[in-house]
Amino acid sequence: MYTTIDWGKAEWIGSPEITLDAARRGVFGLEAEFAGSGGIVFGADDERLKTVRRNIQNQAGEHYISYRLDVAAKKLIITRVGYAEGDSADVPFAALDVSNIKPTNTLRIEITGNNALTYLNGELADGEYISRFPGAPKMLVGRQLNPLGNNDCITFPRLNKCGLLAGSDYTSFRIFDLRPPSAELYRAEDCAALVGTLTDPSHGGVSLLRRELDISKEIKSASLHASARGIYFGTVNGQELRVGKDKDYFTPGISHFDRHIFFHSYDVAKMLKPGKNTLDFTLGSGWWSDAQGFVLTNYNFWGNNPALLMRLEIEYTDGSRDEVVTSPDGWHVSNEGPIRYASYFHGETYDARLEENITGWKKPVVVGTTEQRPVGFVAHPPLNLTEPEIIEHIGNPVREVDVLTAKFHSKVQDSYIYDMGQNMVGLPRIKLKGRPGQVITLRFAEVLYPNLPEYGYLNGMIMTENLRDADCTDIYICKGDPAGEVIFPHLTFHGYRYLEITGTDEAIPETDIEGIVLSSITEWTGSFECSDPMVNKLHENIRWSQRANFLSIPTDCPQRNERMGWMGDAQVFAGTSVYNADVLEFFERFMISVRDLQHENGKFPNIAPNDNGFGGILWESAGVIVPWELYRQYGKKQVLEDNFEAMRRYADYLLTNSEDGLLKEGVGRLGDWLASDMSTDNELVWNAVFAYNMRILADSAKILGKPDIAEKMNAAYEQIKSAWNKTFIDPSSGKTRNRKGEINDTQCSYAQPLFYGIVEDAARAAKLLNEKTIALDYTLTTGFVGTQCISAALSDNGYAETAYKLLRQTKFPSWLYSITQGATSIWERWNSYTVENGFGGNNNMNSFNHYSLGAVGAWLYSRVLGIMPGEAGGYKDFVLKPCFGGLEFAKGHYDCEYGRISSAWEKTDSGYKWKVEIPEGTSALLLMPGGKQAKVNAGVYEYDFTPC
Ligand code: BGC
Repeated sequence: MYTTIDWGKAEWIGSPEITLDAARRGVFGLEAEFAGSGGIVFGADDERLKTVRRNIQNQAGEHYISYRLDVAAKKLIITRVGYAEGDSADVPFAALDVSNIKPTNTLRIEITGNNALTYLNGELADGEYISRFPGAPKMLVGRQLNPLGNNDCITFPRLNKCGLLAGSDYTSFRIFDLRPPSAELYRAEDCAALVGTLTDPSHGGVSLLRRELDISKEIKSASLHASARGIYFGTVNGQELRVGKDKDYFTPGISHFDRHIFFHSYDVAKMLKPGKNTLDFTLGSGWWSDAQGFVLTNYNFWGNNPALLMRLEIEYTDGSRDEVVTSPDGWHVSNEGPIRYASYFHGETYDARLEENITGWKKPVVVGTTEQRPVGFVAHPPLNLTEPEIIEHIGNPVREVDVLTAKFHSKVQDSYIYDMGQNMVGLPRIKLKGRPGQVITLRFAEVLYPNLPEYGYLNGMIMTENLRDADCTDIYICKGDPAGEVIFPHLTFHGYRYLEITGTDEAIPETDIEGIVLSSITEWTGSFECSDPMVNKLHENIRWSQRANFLSIPTDCPQRNERMGWMGDAQVFAGTSVYNADVLEFFERFMISVRDLQHENGKFPNIAPNDNGFGGILWESAGVIVPWELYRQYGKKQVLEDNFEAMRRYADYLLTNSEDGLLKEGVGRLGDWLASDMSTDNELVWNAVFAYNMRILADSAKILGKPDIAEKMNAAYEQIKSAWNKTFIDPSSGKTRNRKGEINDTQCSYAQPLFYGIVEDAARAAKLLNEKTIALDYTLTTGFVGTQCISAALSDNGYAETAYKLLRQTKFPSWLYSITQGATSIWERWNSYTVENGFGGNNNMNSFNHYSLGAVGAWLYSRVLGIMPGEAGGYKDFVLKPCFGGLEFAKGHYDCEYGRISSAWEKTDSGYKWKVEIPEGTSALLLMPGGKQAKVNAGVYEYDFTPC
């Protein structure tokens, strides 16, 4: 099923140097050995803490953190200065009793973001074992060093400048990676020189790999295949490697690097020339190393140093062949290029002065196949220590899909804030003239602090608290070219609307500041427009959030320290995404990682591919629901074939964890996530999706010609459905209830089971949902799960008018409330921002680009326009059944594989006018109110009718 190639003698190669950018490092260890009293200072001279503008703790001036062993007092004294109000050089942040003092002491500090563990002579001196929640296993937790607490990371220390405290004789001082193999990042050559002073231990930049080759014969064909542990950017004689005609970003893309790594192939015949040729590759950390996800210990998740694998095959016109592969021979590496640092979360540092003359070329070492792998790594299922399969990338790489131009917004202190006019994902491209060595700092944010009393002096500044441990800062050091220069990082990406520029003498003209929008979605296959401009804006915002979060994999959000393949999010949004764009290959690629992470017992992960996460059945079910949505929309059996075995194993896992048609207690974990009314019973929604999984399995097995499995799954479905109705529906009132029999009725408690078709008395449940929605004055109390379901649950059961009123509601909480507040993308929370409460206290878990609540997009296509795939999946034979009403008009299209399907209706004096377009090679069943229907083939049709 996967395309692989012969890599010949190619080996993974990379730099022997593990580089260090101390200003960006938040996960590291420090160790000093000394006699008598002494200690370590770090976190000093941090740009983030130097001005009030950048420090939301309103601090400016001197800052550092020190750990000092006082031998006489038998104390370990921790001092924090300049990080938060109340910090003082004179009053210890903590003073701990220590007993195991020796003539020569080893002080070791392990910093993981905001968490610091300290060991003295090998014994834990600061840290404790605690359970994070009742029943959870005890974990070693250290001291919180940042003022804002867990997950509020913007003020937690970075390594920055460090040194040794006076008062002792030091025999060693070193900085190292925490995750095994615990590479040494810095070792002091002369400890005495570090006492009482501060040093910047940074060294090296990103790895540049170069191979020169001579060509003396005429070339007939030449193909180059490349892959990376990390990401690569390659050129042949200075020309970019491109799969197609457009520039590619972040190749080879994200995968479960321990099981599958992608490669791309390029036709380079025209790029090579007689004589000397140069192959150049830049390696970025990408999804391989550096910060990953919201768990800070995931730093260097897959490895600690990126590496390249390449094979170039040349065929000459005389029939002879040649090949060049990555190996220790002939290749050189330098870490002295202009890109001094690059990571997705923290940004890029670029010193343009180093462009002209890259020095420090040395021979690379081969990066072994397993020795770089972190030992003691925890992943689920455990890492496969065999070689991953290197397979051809499916679908297009990340591409530039739009270019926006900035609008000047304001000057705040010494910074200029620009508004891109759109919450976007991508990169800045800025033209400027600067002096040699002039430092320009770019920071990125989705929102500004509003003018509310609680934000005080922050009003008007960019809000970066919600980025958490993602610094999202690009630093550019000018070369001073009199003709001007361009800032254009390309080994990172940012999710932002506002761009703050510091370091220029004056504001850069707006037209010189562009936002390059990046996405895996290069074309739209659907459109939607109606008489309500705010609904149109909602549709546009849904698409922007899909663009933003369909970047190599479907992510939850593109800006903070997550950007991860959370499967619950993918599951609820898949149905919308399939209309907006052709996402078959995109999701097929993602499903490789999902399957790679499936546990032995059949359980699917909750996040793929890095980390495993939590969430439970509503998240894991993406392993079943996503392939099903793809099959439904695109009608390709292959997607079911590719995933069926994994789907079946998951179904068996669920069945094993159930009894009499109900899941055993505690199988799930999260329910209707981020609902404005969080009271929906979890087990009710877990068991409903349990039934839906079996329905999909039974239908898929039938399609694939597996009658035995179909029968088994169908029987399971019927049993679960009946148990669900008996357990979760109160027979007398028809209201939903929890397992204890207590009434639990929310919009979600009706909407989700109705949407999945498992409520026996659907009419009664829909009536209750309708009444509830009216009682709530057409506002939404649902979260990720219920929001996807509610509109169809209403309209499919006779309450289309209610669904329309819900759609068009502008009062909080509703889809359109965010539009009234100027949203340009879908927010994570209904109350991500409200006029009265600003960010509602959710400053750190508050993304403004999270597609989940935009799952109503599917309803716009499938019910408002009425474009629905047929029973057999896909659009060979499909259905058009709009919900006429609720709007003056609605029109739009969906481009299926056969061509364009359009549906446009409008209210007339007597009823409705409806115009449809059916593509060649298809037929459609047109369903109109009053039981009127027509079966048509390709063509354009118009109807006028009066509703009954
Ligand atoms: C993510 C989600 C995800 C959730 C699960 C969040 O932090 O952003 O969208 O589904 O965690 O709890």
